Amino acid sequence: MERQDAAVPELLLHGLESPEARDLPARDLYAKLRHTIPAFEWPVYAQEIDAIMTLKERRNAVVLAHNYQTPDIYHCVSDLVGDSLALAREAMNVEADVIVLAGVHFMAETAKLLNPEKTVLIPDLGAGCSLAESITPEDVRALRRRYPGVPIVTYVNTSAAVKAESDICCTSGNAKAVVESLGVPRVIMIPDEYLAQNIAAETGVEIITWKGHCEVHERFEPEDIRQLREDYPGVTVLAHPECPPEVVKEADFSGSTAMMSAYVAREKPQRVVLLTECSMSDNVAVHHPDLEFIRPCNLCPHMKKITLGNIRHALETMTHEVTIDPEVAGRARLAVERMLAVK
Ligand code: 13P
Ligand code: SF4
Repeated sequence: MERQDAAVPELLLHGLESPEARDLPARDLYAKLRHTIPAFEWPVYAQEIDAIMTLKERRNAVVLAHNYQTPDIYHCVSDLVGDSLALAREAMNVEADVIVLAGVHFMAETAKLLNPEKTVLIPDLGAGCSLAESITPEDVRALRRRYPGVPIVTYVNTSAAVKAESDICCTSGNAKAVVESLGVPRVIMIPDEYLAQNIAAETGVEIITWKGHCEVHERFEPEDIRQLREDYPGVTVLAHPECPPEVVKEADFSGSTAMMSAYVAREKPQRVVLLTECSMSDNVAVHHPDLEFIRPCNLCPHMKKITLGNIRHALETMTHEVTIDPEVAGRARLAVERMLAVK
């Protein structure tokens, strides 16, 4: 039996003993997170979680959360969780009227592109991305003029306006399949230089790159892996493909956040490190209390802008609503839909 099924410690019931509180959903969730959140802090979380649950029902809303969201969001208030690809795919199947995107702005825009008639909310408008900020629509038009006829593959970590100038999108979960689906010897892949180099190495396709980097993953170095192997004998190292190629080469496996989760579930490495954003290990570890997670990691300041407090505020006030110019949205949607059509 998994450890999160164990009885809820009495301490956490403090603040939740009222007859009404006994029926609230948060009371049962702590067992899952008792290795992650100190018991004395739980009542504060529980209040927010219960308020969000009630608001979700009242607004007919769902919360879609990226794998880098903190465990309280990821495990307690989310209806769907996953990597960028899963969130885009799942966004298409949402039946609720309102989608709250617990992630960064480009993810909310992608959900809006695929659900133009629904209300999509992002709890903090400042939740950006260093990759999305590294390139403008004019940069993409200039690339097209410079390399006529070469298809432009755009990482989903970009604005809708940049997607609108592109031929097809990709995520870290399908970049290889998308590039191979084009059946050409040369593509432009923007804006993540390292993802593009990693995919070029995997596919043998010549890739013209852009100088964008993820501020979280660019900081890992091959030396970190060597040190980890020395300090933690037998450790299995998983690296996100936004890491520099020298890092990916030294790792045992590289893949999107969902692919890393799947690897851990499948291979059950006794000692494992995920070279990526910090919440990733926290979230995966909840499902694998028997495995040892070594946790050097880097925080994404953008992902960390989303909190239980501002998810609650988003649902109370119906802010911040994501809107996209319809003409831009039409062209951007095509690029995303072409990506989703790749098997
Ligand atoms: P994936 O979850 O698609 O691997 O993306 C990682 C990321 O950095 C998203 O911001
Ligand atoms: Fe952007 Fe990197 Fe943060 Fe993901 S982890 S949102 S790619 S800065």
